[in-house]
Order: sequence, then C-alpha cells, then structure tokens
Amino acid sequence: MDSMEQFPASFVWGVATSSYQIEGAAAEGGRSPSIWDTFSQTPGKVFGGHTGERACDHYHRYADDVRLMAELGVRQYRFSVAWPRIFPRKGELNEQGLAFYRGLLDELHKYGIVPVLTMYHWDLPQWLQDEGGWANRQSVAHFMDYAQVLFERFGADVPIWITINEPWCAAILGYGVGVHAPGHTDWREALAAGHHMLLASGLAIRTYRKLGLGGRIGITLNMDHNDSASGDEQDEAARRRHDGHLNRWFLDPLFRGDYPADMMAWYSERLGRLDFEAPGDREVIREPGDFLGINYYTRAIIRAGDSHPVLLTDQVLPEGSSVTDMGWEVHPESLYRLLCRLRDEYTDLPLFITENGAAEDDRLEDGAVRDWARIRYVAAHLEQSLRFVREGGNLQGYYLWSLFDNFEWAYGYDKRFGIVHVDFETQVRTPKISAYWYRDVTRTGSLPEPASLASE
Ligand code: FCB
Repeated sequence: MDSMEQFPASFVWGVATSSYQIEGAAAEGGRSPSIWDTFSQTPGKVFGGHTGERACDHYHRYADDVRLMAELGVRQYRFSVAWPRIFPRKGELNEQGLAFYRGLLDELHKYGIVPVLTMYHWDLPQWLQDEGGWANRQSVAHFMDYAQVLFERFGADVPIWITINEPWCAAILGYGVGVHAPGHTDWREALAAGHHMLLASGLAIRTYRKLGLGGRIGITLNMDHNDSASGDEQDEAARRRHDGHLNRWFLDPLFRGDYPADMMAWYSERLGRLDFEAPGDREVIREPGDFLGINYYTRAIIRAGDSHPVLLTDQVLPEGSSVTDMGWEVHPESLYRLLCRLRDEYTDLPLFITENGAAEDDRLEDGAVRDWARIRYVAAHLEQSLRFVREGGNLQGYYLWSLFDNFEWAYGYDKRFGIVHVDFETQVRTPKISAYWYRDVTRTGSLPEPASLASE
C-alpha cells in the first residue's frame, strides 16, 4: 500500500466509552443517583427495564479492562467522568469518586494509553435535576464547580478534554422529546438546556485556558448530513428545519456567535418568546475550543410531514438501504460531506471524529464473534475520512464507539456497539474480530484491501 493510502503518522487512534454505560457500581464509592438511574428505574422508559446499575462492572474491573486495551493496541482512551461520583450532593466533594478516576488514569499511564476525558456524558446528578437540571441557568455554575475540581485534580495527567458530549441529545432528547433522561417533553426547557450546555462548555474552555494547563479542550457535537426526500420545495424546507435544529442550532452559536435566524423564528412562533439568553452569553459560547469533536453515525433523508411535532418533518429510509442494528442507514459518504461542510462553512479548527461505529446483531459462537458487518462499517467510514485527509482536510483523529458492548441508553443491553463482546451475566470480555482488525489498522495507519474484507 503506498503512502497515499495511509493515514499520516500523526493521526490519532482511539476507542470511546462513557461512565454510565460501563461503570456500574451505581451506589458504591459514595456515588449518588444520576438522572439516568432515575430514568432507567422508571417503568417503560428503557428496553426490558434495563439499568446501568451493573453495566460492564468497569468500576471494579478497570485494571483488567485497561490491560485488555493495552493488549488490543489501544493508543488513546476516551472515557467520561460521572458527575455524581464527584459531587454526590450539592457542595459536597467526594474524594472516593476522585480516587476511582485517579486509579484509572494511573493504570492508563502504566501502559502509555493517552486519556481523553469527557466531562459530561449525560449522567447529571439527580440532586441537580431536582433543582431544574440543565433547564435551570444555575446548572452552569454547578458545572463550573465540577470543572474546576476536574482541572485541578486531573489537569496535569489528561492532555485532551471534551466539555459536553452531544448537547443535542442531552438537551433535545432529554428535555424535549423525552426518550432520554430526565424524560421531559417541554421544548422551551430543551432549548434552555441546550443553551446552558453551550454556555457551560464555553466557560469551561475559558477556565481551562486561564489555568494554563497546556492540553487541548473542545466540545463534541452529534451531527448528520441530510438530504431532502425530493426536489420539492416543501421537502427542502423541511430538510432545512431538520438541519437547523440538529446541526446549525449548535454550530452557528459556536462558530458564528448567533443562533440561526430561521430556527429562532420557527421556534418562537411555536413555543412563544424565547428568553433563555442573557447579555454576554454569545461571547462566552463563541470562545474557540482547540478542536471540534464530531460524533457521526448516519445520514437523514427528510420530507415535510407531521411525525415530528415541532419541526413538522418525517424521516424516511430509502428502500433497500443497508442499515445497522439500530435501523440507522449506513452511508459513509455522508461523513465525508459533513467533514467538507464543517471546513467550508464553519471552521479551520482541527476536527476529531470522537465517535463512529455500529450496533450489530453479534453472536458469540465457538468463543468468537465474527462481526464482519461492523468491520465493513468502520472501514468504509475510515475510507471517507482518509479521502478528506488526503484532500488536505484537517481531520486529526478517530475514536471508535465503542470499546465494549454496554448500556445503550433507552435500548438497554439490547444493542451491541462494542469491539469487545461483554457477557452481562458473567462479565466475561471477548474481543470480537473487529478488535483485532482495528488493532492492525491503528498499528499500520492503513486499511486492509476491501477484497480481504469481502472474503467472508
Ligand atoms: C451517541 C452517544 C453514545 C452512544 C452512541 C451510540 O449518541 O454519545 O453514548 O450511545 O451514540
């Protein structure tokens, strides 16, 4: 393979997880409940009544887990800190919670695995939700107390920080659509929550800089590329609304200092006057990070319709599309288009794909999981990433979601995203063939010929 088919040597490779999805030990080490404990214990909210109470039991098995990562050649590990382990009650700092992450960082250090720390990956302390959660502006001040502690204690050991993971999911799915914790269905709350997350992120970035810690910090957004279902003007308008609420609603304030006018008008018409902003907020939100994190899984095809009550859109799936076990269309070229759009319309900042991966209906047979569909998914998305890099695009790294099968939010343990299979009864970990394939990719910086993938 010639060098043109290779990622640059500086390209960063990693895997990703999050606290609530893997840790378990929900009531141990002084941790108090998060909104995901409350939500998952509410009947009917999560598939099969599953909760993260035990999950991958990573809290107890982290040393073995890090050793396994080292065996799999993992270079960088993106994980998140559970806020209710650090502040189980208002104003009460929990040293035991900090000690757990200190142990994890020491273990990673032992093997030379670079830690990438996400400060908020959805497990808000329940005590904070009891005060209105992210919909209450006070959440920003609480986040800053939490951020300050993390920077002070771990700033010297963690070179890459992600403030908030996917504000769209946490705010819109959590407070507007209600399929994620805290399960509210109030779009005014949702927009306020999203705004407060952006504000919290901007302030955290400022604080981090002031401390002169020398690493890099940024936010991660989930985004798609979207197409209109037809050339029809109504469908195109619907597509713009979809794009406006998912992508532009977050990108515009971050990179242009303003919410998109068309969406402001659309929301105000339906929800009433929006009053979540205070003077000076936009400047804070605009505070540039050192990179933009991108979580990409699928594209969306949109037409005018009424399945989305606020946007008046329908999402359609073309007949014969290939889909993952989530029912999400596999459309790698849309990742390339998204990357180009971010570069052309928004930012020169380094880009990192902080999540990409696939849920598949994996089977453990004769001690092995032959997850060829996942390998094909990741390979195709890496090909499109490489295409962007080769054309001079500033994409600097890729973190595969996920290291382990884990608690997939409202889908519980029903969806498996891992490159390592987890038996949730016995907690036995079995690397799938994708884990070995990915190890080779990250070692060589190149993708195996498609022919060798097609051979199975
Ligand atoms: C993202 C989440 C991550 C995981 C993947 C499949 O939205 O950040 O925790 O659930 O989707």
